[in-house]
Amino acid sequence: MATSLSVGSGSQLPYRGDLGEGTLRVGVIGYGYWGPNIVRNFHAQEKSRVIAICDKSANSQRRARQAYPDMYVTDDCNQLLTATNVDVIAVVTPVWTHYELAKAALENGKHVFVEKPFTYTAAQAEELIELAERKNLKIMVDHTFLFTGAVQRMRQFIDDGTLGDLYYYDSTRVNLGLFQHDVNVMWDLAPHDLSIMDYLIKEKPDAIVATGEQHLNGVADIAFLTIFYPNKLIGHLNVNWLSPVKVRMTLIGGEKKMLVWNDLEADEKLKVYDKGVELKTGEEVYQTLVSYRTGDMWAPKVEQVEALKAEAAYFIDCILNNRKPFNDGEAGLRVVRMLQAADESLQKKGKIIQL
Ligand SMILES: NC(=O)c1ccc[n+]([C@@H]2O[C@H](COP(=O)([O-])OP(=O)(O)OC[C@H]3O[C@@H](n4cnc5c(N)ncnc54)[C@H](O)[C@@H]3O)[C@@H](O)[C@H]2O)c1
Repeated sequence: MATSLSVGSGSQLPYRGDLGEGTLRVGVIGYGYWGPNIVRNFHAQEKSRVIAICDKSANSQRRARQAYPDMYVTDDCNQLLTATNVDVIAVVTPVWTHYELAKAALENGKHVFVEKPFTYTAAQAEELIELAERKNLKIMVDHTFLFTGAVQRMRQFIDDGTLGDLYYYDSTRVNLGLFQHDVNVMWDLAPHDLSIMDYLIKEKPDAIVATGEQHLNGVADIAFLTIFYPNKLIGHLNVNWLSPVKVRMTLIGGEKKMLVWNDLEADEKLKVYDKGVELKTGEEVYQTLVSYRTGDMWAPKVEQVEALKAEAAYFIDCILNNRKPFNDGEAGLRVVRMLQAADESLQKKGKIIQL
């Protein structure tokens, strides 16, 4: 990172808005594509206000000033990191900067909301988790999809046994671009599914295989990941920046029911199918009878909340009430471990890597 990051007591940043009793003050670093969503959602909470934005690009600063004329905007992240009146730092910059910014924020006594993927390496994530614990601070990793109505509903169907034992999680997450320069397509798109699987599936995976290819800018732009779980549960992810169409489709197969999640559908995002296959052994030992069950399909109601709004509210609540978020540093670390293993497998042309 070009600028060295400071630890110590800085100054108080100006803020002209109202701050009620117990309101947390948030500083957001990174106002590119995703940053504006973070600012908007933390600023709109009852118990938090964004008081400052930092971005080193003049264009991003201009956009921030235009959207929030009263907010303090700077290119120097040290001002936010050391400010005496900032409680929470949100790190919304490219992945390679997450570790250093999050570390400086924790060292300065700030809680940290950090974008996915948490860090570049598991060792960095472990260090941040240890630092936060030592300083009694919270880390939340922005695994946004966990706060969508669809994922919440799927979790319910798994927990209450509607789907039965799971056979597979199979996801297609493809589109044309947005090309990232610092990470390959797996680090860009797979954290969504890996964090969803981590949240939905109780068992932890034991091995991963990844294959893929790079065509344009030196990093893999198409990849296929296979994740092996105990009990024959298998996960498969297709991530691709070179697809002519955008697809966000996940199938979850269970012993009792199967479901389809099409995130691009406006209304009926989830469909549950009462379909399945049953095997019975016939009278002769070698005779296997296959029967197909094709029952009803229904589209359960899915809460239409903005996931980031719910996530920001949850983080504020975790800080104010000293609760550990479920999408904490540990959850971020589990995803980073899978990504690192997937990278190793990709480099070795699909070698199976134990987790
Ligand atoms: N949760 C989600 O669904 C989701 C969606 C998109 C992006 N993201 C994540 O958000 C992060 C940012 O992605 P993006 O698409 O907004 O990237 P981006 O390149 O559009 O924006 C990043 C911004 O950070 C600024 N920046 C970089 N280093 C900085 C520093 N040291 N100090 C101050 N500013 C700095 C850049 O000038 C840029 O404006 C990534 O980690 C990405 O994975 C998450």
